[in-house]
Amino acid sequence: SIEKKVDSLLSIMTLEEKIGQMNQYNGFWDVTGPSPKGGNAEKKYEDIKKGLVGSMLTVRGVDQVRSVQKIAVEETRLGIPLIIGFDVIHGYKTLSPIPLAEAASWDLEAIKESAGVAASEAAASGINWTFGPNVDISRDPRWGRVMEGAGEDPYLGSKIATARVKGFQGDDLSDVNTIAACAKHFAGYGFSESGKEYNTVSIDRSTLYNVVLPPFKAAVEADVKTLMNSFNELDGIPATGNKFLQRDILKDKWNFNGFVISDWASIKEMISWGHAEDLNHAAELAVEAGCDMDMESYAYVDELVKLVKEGKVDEKLIDDAARRILTVKYELGLFDDPYKYCNEELEKTVIGSDANRAAVLDMAKKSIVLLKNEGNLLPLPKKGKKIAVIGALADDNNSILGSWRIASDDNSGVSILEGLQQYKGNKLVYKKGADVTVGQTAFTEELTINTTNTEDFDDAIAAAKKSDVVVMVLGEHGFQTGEARSRTELGLPGVQQELLEAVYAVNKNIVLVLTNGRPLTINWAEANIPAIVETWQLGTETGNAVAQVLYGDYNPSGKLPMTFPRNVGQIPIYYNHKQTGRPVNSDNNVFWSHYSDVENTPLYPFGFGLSYASFEYTNLQVSKSNISSEDTVEVSVNLTNTGKVAGKEVVQLYIRDLVASVTRPIKELKGFEMVSLEPGETKKVTLKLTKDELGFYNNDGEFIVEPGTFKIFIGGSSITSLETEITLN
Ligand code: IFM
Repeated sequence: SIEKKVDSLLSIMTLEEKIGQMNQYNGFWDVTGPSPKGGNAEKKYEDIKKGLVGSMLTVRGVDQVRSVQKIAVEETRLGIPLIIGFDVIHGYKTLSPIPLAEAASWDLEAIKESAGVAASEAAASGINWTFGPNVDISRDPRWGRVMEGAGEDPYLGSKIATARVKGFQGDDLSDVNTIAACAKHFAGYGFSESGKEYNTVSIDRSTLYNVVLPPFKAAVEADVKTLMNSFNELDGIPATGNKFLQRDILKDKWNFNGFVISDWASIKEMISWGHAEDLNHAAELAVEAGCDMDMESYAYVDELVKLVKEGKVDEKLIDDAARRILTVKYELGLFDDPYKYCNEELEKTVIGSDANRAAVLDMAKKSIVLLKNEGNLLPLPKKGKKIAVIGALADDNNSILGSWRIASDDNSGVSILEGLQQYKGNKLVYKKGADVTVGQTAFTEELTINTTNTEDFDDAIAAAKKSDVVVMVLGEHGFQTGEARSRTELGLPGVQQELLEAVYAVNKNIVLVLTNGRPLTINWAEANIPAIVETWQLGTETGNAVAQVLYGDYNPSGKLPMTFPRNVGQIPIYYNHKQTGRPVNSDNNVFWSHYSDVENTPLYPFGFGLSYASFEYTNLQVSKSNISSEDTVEVSVNLTNTGKVAGKEVVQLYIRDLVASVTRPIKELKGFEMVSLEPGETKKVTLKLTKDELGFYNNDGEFIVEPGTFKIFIGGSSITSLETEITLN
C-alpha cells in the first residue's frame, strides 16, 4: 500500500531530506540551459541537488519539467521526484471563462468538465498540481480576487468547489490527464477588510463556520489533495500560523489527509504582521500550526533543522508533513514514473486542441448573463441592419482573457469584434471611442487608466448616428481584476461612462456588453440603456460566445453569483444578510436599518439573469409541512416557458429559519436545478430538503438542527415570488 511505501521511505530519510520535501521554490532559470551561477538561483539549484526541495512552481513545458525532474531523480541521494505546481486557474493555454463567470452558469457538470480540460492541458505540459480552485467566498467586489472564486454564496460555492476538485483530480489521480487540486485560501481571505488586498480580516465565528468554511469542507469531502493557507490573519493570528484553522478544524475535525502549502512567502510575512520575531520563529509557528510546505519563504529549508535539533520543534511534526507530501506524490504516480507527465506527443496534441476550444466555447456561452432586454432589442437581427460596435474592449483579444493565465499567449483570445464579424448579414462599423488603458499592460504592473483622452469620441458618435443599433463593449481591463487589484470605485473605468452617455445622446438603441471581473456599479446604464449583457472575461473563445448570444444562436441562461451594488457605499451587500432588529420602516419614521441616500436594494440581486424566453413559476408545494429532522421534504413547482423560444432556467430554492439560537439570514440558497423548456412547455421541478439543508453551525462549529418554522421560497433569483412554510418538530 501507499502507506507502507511512504513509511519505509521515511524510515531511510534524514531530517534534512524530510524537511526538503517541505520546501517549494519558484522556477528560477531556464532549466534546459547551463546551471545558474551566483545568488539565489545558484542556492536553489544546489538545494535541488542536495534533496532539499520537494516541489517547484511555475516551471512548465515538458522540456523544462523533465530537466528539473531529472536533477531531483538522478542527482539526489534518494531520487524523490518533485511535485510540479502551477496556477491553473481558468484553463492552461486554452482559457475558459474566469471562475466567477463560470459560477454564473450554475452548471456544475460544465464547470467540472472545464476544470478537466484545464487539468489535461496542464498535465500535458508536465504539471501535476494546480493551485486551484479558489473557494474564497466574498461579499466585496472591491476585492480584485472575486474574479477567481464562485461568488458570495456558501451553498453554490460548495457545489462549485466540489465540481472543480473533481474536474481537476478526476476519478484517478494517477491518470496522466488529471492533476492534484488545492482549495485556497484557508481561510477568510475573501473578507479582507474594505476589499483591500492582503488586509486584515475580522469576521465573527458564525460567519466563519456558516459562510467561509463550507466550501473548504466540501473540497475536503471531495478528496482535495492539498489546501493553501492565506495571506490574511484571523482573530489576530496570520492564517499561515493559525493552529485553530489548520490543525483543529482542517486536520483534526475534518480528518484532512492531504497537505497544506503556504501562500507565497506567507510564512516570512508573519514577521511583517508582527506575529513572528524572525524567520526562525516564523518557521516554528507555521509548522506547529500545520502548514506542511513552504512556498518561497526559505523558512523551512533554512530554519527547521536547527529548530528540531534545539528541541523547539518535535520531529514528529516533520514526519507528519513529509508523510502527507510523499503520499500525494505516490498517488500521482510520480514514484512509478517521475516523467509520466512529460510526454511530448501529448503536449503537442492536447494543448490547444479543437476539442478543448469547443469545450471552453461551450463554457463561455453558459457563463453569460442577460441583465436587461427592454423591447426585445436582443437578439440582434441577422441581416439588413447597420450596427456600430464601439469601445476599445471590443477590439481587444488580451483583456478578455482575464487575469491569472500565465501559460497562455498574450492576445490569443477571439475578440468580441472578431466574433461579431463572423455574422456577415449586417453592415458593421467599428470605432473604439476611447482607450481604456494607457501604455503597456502586464500582469505584474499597475495599470494606467485613460481618464482624460476623449479625442476619439467624435468618430464613435458619428458612427452611432448612422446606425440602427449600437453595440458598446465597455468594462474593466482583464488586469484590473485578480490579485492585488482592489478598487474603491466600481463604475466603468476611465472615460467610458462619458462615452456611453455621449453615444446615448445620439442613439438610444444601445446594447451594452459588459466585460469585467467583478460586479460593477452601473446605475445609469440600468436606468437608460435598453439591453445589457454581462460577459465577464470569457477566455480564448470570448468573441464567438458573445456573438452567438447577441445574435440569438445561443439563448443565455446565466445567473449572477454575486450581488451588483448600486454604489460602493452599499458594500458589503449580499442577499443572505440578517434581518436586523429594525428591518422595515413600520412606523413610517427614520429609525430603521437603511441608508438615507440610496434605495435599500441592490442593482441586480444574487441569482438574477434573464433569457430570450420567459418563465412563470406556479403551484409551489411541499410534500409534508410538519416534519421531523429525519424527513426529506420534496419542494415542487411548475415552471412554464411563456416565451417564444426554447430556453433554460435555473430554478432556485431558498429557505429562512425564522427563529434560531444564532440568528439566521433572511434567505439561504439550499437547492437549484437547471431546466430546459420548449416554448409553451411546463415541467414540474422537484427539489429536496433534509436536515443537511435545514441545519446550521452554532458558534462552537457544531452542526445543529433546531425545531421551528422555516419559510421556503422558489424562484428564478434570490428575489422570489412564491413562498410557503414548513415546521420542523
Ligand atoms: O497560488 C498563488 C496564490 O493564490 C497567490 N500567491 C501566489 C500563489 C502562487 O502563484
